Amino acid sequence: MFPATESTKIALNEQKLQQKTSQTAQLALEIVEVVKRFGSAKPSLFSQLWKPPFSKPHSSMIAVDRVSLTIERGEIFGLLGANGSGKSTLIRLVSTLLVPDSGQIKVFGYDVQLKPREVQRLINRVSVEASFFKKLSALENLLYAARLYDVAGKEARERSIVILEQLGLSEKRLSEPLEHMSRGMQQKVAVARGLLTSPLMLLLDEPTTGLDPRSKQDVQRFVLEMREQHATTVFLTTHDMGEADRMCDRIAVIDAGRIVALDTPLNLKKQISLQKNLAQDATMEEVFLALTGKSLDDDFESKEHK
Ligand SMILES: Nc1ncnc2c1ncn2[C@@H]1O[C@H](COP(=O)(O)OP(=O)(O)OP(=O)(O)O)[C@@H](O)[C@H]1O
Ligand SMILES: [Mg+2]
Repeated sequence: MFPATESTKIALNEQKLQQKTSQTAQLALEIVEVVKRFGSAKPSLFSQLWKPPFSKPHSSMIAVDRVSLTIERGEIFGLLGANGSGKSTLIRLVSTLLVPDSGQIKVFGYDVQLKPREVQRLINRVSVEASFFKKLSALENLLYAARLYDVAGKEARERSIVILEQLGLSEKRLSEPLEHMSRGMQQKVAVARGLLTSPLMLLLDEPTTGLDPRSKQDVQRFVLEMREQHATTVFLTTHDMGEADRMCDRIAVIDAGRIVALDTPLNLKKQISLQKNLAQDATMEEVFLALTGKSLDDDFESKEHK
């Protein structure tokens, strides 16, 4: 995929990263009984002493509710769920952007709360709401990100161009300000930024949302190649059931912050087929609907905990 010199450098980078993973860790990701609430669980002293008339009682909502799961090294693991079911929150918890209220998360053996720096070196996250310097070009944004990850300028430049071209962005567009690019093009730059550093674990939060069918395929193929060539572990959320079915080794379905099913795509389809007495295996859409009781476009109203 990359020229020979580039592959050698990437292999060396990977070797360095592998050495950084905790020697004893067999698993890429371990999530144990993790809970995340939003809205302070305890009302402040001030709000206890002074309540405006007709104010609502204090409430917090639970976004991730005692989630436990493990992901093997080199696995592509999918997380499916309706809008607001807790997928991005879980990804943010793994990527050290949020802190769990209880439970434990380990990335390649490193506890995200005790060793956030080690975790950050091993992962990269791509999300639909990626933030960029919009006045800077795609290439400048990628070079900036590469510096944060200690990837040398020349190497970052070469890789950025190779990756963006493979994702269908031509070299001449790379120097245009990002704000001149369409949303789909910006999404490709976000994906390229996630792939630039050869992370050992990629956290992909709806990486193909907003992409046209060909670009979607380009991104999917690229992720599969990353896993094939660099044994990258992938934790993926998507609303595209076909994508989940094709790409994932195992899938968890999350509903109201809780994991309601976890298995291979084939076993999930067989399970729902049996439950529904279908003549053939269920489709992933049918699996989703049966397990969440919602349509793909439904909003999920989160539980209020008072
Ligand atoms: N920073 C926040 N502050 C308060 N509530 C939040 C925050 N982030 C998420 N939530 C709430 O947590 C719940 C889970 O949100 P989350 O973004 O994890 O859902 P999701 O499964 O990623 O949904 P989508 O498919 O729409 O991306 C939602 O009810 C959401 O409103
Ligand atoms: Mg989300």
